[in-house]
Amino acid sequence: MIAVILTALLVLTALAHSASGEAAWCYHDSTCNDTVWASLPIGYCNGTRQSPVNIVTASVQPNANLTAFNFTGFSSNSTMSEITNTGETVQVKLQTGSVNISGGGLSTTYNALQFHLHWGNGSNVPGSEHTVDSKRYPMELHMVTVKPQYNGSITLAVSDPEGVAAFSFFIEGKNDSNLPASWNTLTSYLSNITQAGQKANISSGISLDDLLVGVNRTQYYRYLGSLTVPDCNEAVVWTVFKDSIKISNNLIDLFSASVYFNTSPPLLMTNTYRSSQKLNSRVITSQVSTTAVTVTPTTAKPSSSPPSSAALTLPLLCAILLFHLFPK
Ligand SMILES: *[C@@H]1O[C@H](CO)[C@@H](O)[C@H](O)[C@H]1NC(C)=O
Ligand SMILES: *[C@@H]1O[C@H](CO)[C@@H](O)[C@H](O)[C@H]1NC(C)=O
Ligand SMILES: *[C@@H]1O[C@H](CO)[C@@H](O)[C@H](O)[C@H]1NC(C)=O
Ligand SMILES: *[C@@H]1O[C@H](CO)[C@@H](O)[C@H](O)[C@H]1NC(C)=O
Ligand SMILES: *[C@@H]1O[C@H](CO)[C@@H](O)[C@H](O)[C@H]1NC(C)=O
Ligand SMILES: *[C@@H]1O[C@H](CO)[C@@H](O)[C@H](O)[C@H]1NC(C)=O
Ligand SMILES: *[C@@H]1O[C@H](CO)[C@@H](O)[C@H](O)[C@H]1NC(C)=O
Ligand SMILES: *[C@@H]1O[C@H](CO)[C@@H](O)[C@H](O)[C@H]1NC(C)=O
Ligand SMILES: *[C@@H]1O[C@H](CO)[C@@H](O)[C@H](O)[C@H]1NC(C)=O
Ligand SMILES: *[C@@H]1O[C@H](CO)[C@@H](O)[C@H](O)[C@H]1NC(C)=O
Ligand SMILES: *[C@@H]1O[C@H](CO)[C@@H](O)[C@H](O)[C@H]1NC(C)=O
Ligand SMILES: *[C@@H]1O[C@H](CO)[C@@H](O)[C@H](O)[C@H]1NC(C)=O
Ligand SMILES: [Zn+2]
Repeated sequence: MIAVILTALLVLTALAHSASGEAAWCYHDSTCNDTVWASLPIGYCNGTRQSPVNIVTASVQPNANLTAFNFTGFSSNSTMSEITNTGETVQVKLQTGSVNISGGGLSTTYNALQFHLHWGNGSNVPGSEHTVDSKRYPMELHMVTVKPQYNGSITLAVSDPEGVAAFSFFIEGKNDSNLPASWNTLTSYLSNITQAGQKANISSGISLDDLLVGVNRTQYYRYLGSLTVPDCNEAVVWTVFKDSIKISNNLIDLFSASVYFNTSPPLLMTNTYRSSQKLNSRVITSQVSTTAVTVTPTTAKPSSSPPSSAALTLPLLCAILLFHLFPK
């Protein structure tokens, strides 16, 4: 009896913490980081179509549905309204209705709400969420969009298995300073939002096209997954672009050196990523033409040891066999 009451109290306490917005989950501490998210009293972090995942390029299947996107509002220099330190990330709100994405094999147009970033600890300690052949990139940008029928509400959209479309852009460092100008401008706001909950207005001047420089947005991976933070709702159509945005290492360094978590005492915001989740029965697809895949980073710093050649050989043979049986 006492055990039942204690259990009920523990569950209620956990729910209350979550509902009141207190730190029910975190990145920085083993008592609340992603190693325990699957056992949170609410949410779907223990599910079977979770994100992020490691993209094994040899296992990616061709998909003729993955045509070009129609990006609307990306060239406008007045879509970004506000930048916020949420306590777990840095997020840029997009003006309601100013940015839409359609095409690309999506079933409908999606309306963009915000983008936010994931990072490690400076340009030398990578912190992207998705990895490609176990390579973890320094940073990753996520643009979050929802179907129009959910009226800009992520809360409504997560009840639909494809209610959210998330667009992922890897960010890599380059050995110069304060470039490109768009990222120099964006990171200049970090000094105004060092503490959790702080916001700054973004004055017009930078566009999404300016920030996403150097990415060929016709080349991407597609799979079905989840939000990468609790409640980890399995409601996301993921698009992960193959090319990376290249920005100066000193700008990457600013993220882990200037903004703080919602911890007490405040700790610098570092390693804001969830580790790779099991793919299970899912298949990651990409454009049919594989000749354009030139992403062979020579400076890759894999976060874990690469798969053995034996592990690579069988899927590769299967892929070759399948291709000969079912040529596209
Ligand atoms: C979770 O915390 C533990 C202990 O601090 C740490 O060893 C582990 O790497 C953390 N996990 C992640 C994904 O950061
Ligand atoms: C996840 O947890 C919920 C609630 O505890 C449970 O109902 C569900 O079966 C679990 N799912 C998996 C895949 O383990
Ligand atoms: C392509 O789209 C069609 C129609 O929506 C769908 O039936 C088919 O499964 C899709 N193919 C792939 C490989 O996703
Ligand atoms: C792209 O979207 C715009 C605005 O919704 C529309 O006017 C245009 O026709 C679309 N282009 C294509 C190629 O679908
Ligand atoms: C985006 O789509 C919404 C409807 O879903 C529309 O009201 C809005 O005008 C569109 N924005 C642009 C820039 O086309
Ligand atoms: C991040 O790197 C700095 C040095 O660059 C180091 O002092 C700090 O302990 C690191 N933080 C974490 C969480 O590893
Ligand atoms: C959509 O949301 C806006 C505010 O975000 C609200 O004014 C409007 O009534 C909502 N429309 C519907 C159909 O829910
Ligand atoms: C970065 O550039 C500086 C100046 O050009 C050079 O001295 C340094 O060796 C370069 N570092 C790397 C890692 O390439
Ligand atoms: C950033 O902070 C500085 C110094 O406190 C202030 O002058 C400036 O107006 C702030 N900028 C924004 C966009 O909030
Ligand atoms: C942002 O601008 C609005 C008016 O557009 C103003 O009310 C608000 O105080 C500003 N926020 C900050 C942090 O400067
Ligand atoms: C924003 O774009 C408009 C139209 O292209 C242009 O006239 C204006 O100068 C730009 N503003 C800034 C601050 O770049
Ligand atoms: C993007 O990639 C496609 C396929 O390789 C290519 O045809 C196109 O020219 C590229 N676009 C740009 C702007 O490089
Ligand atoms: Zn994210």
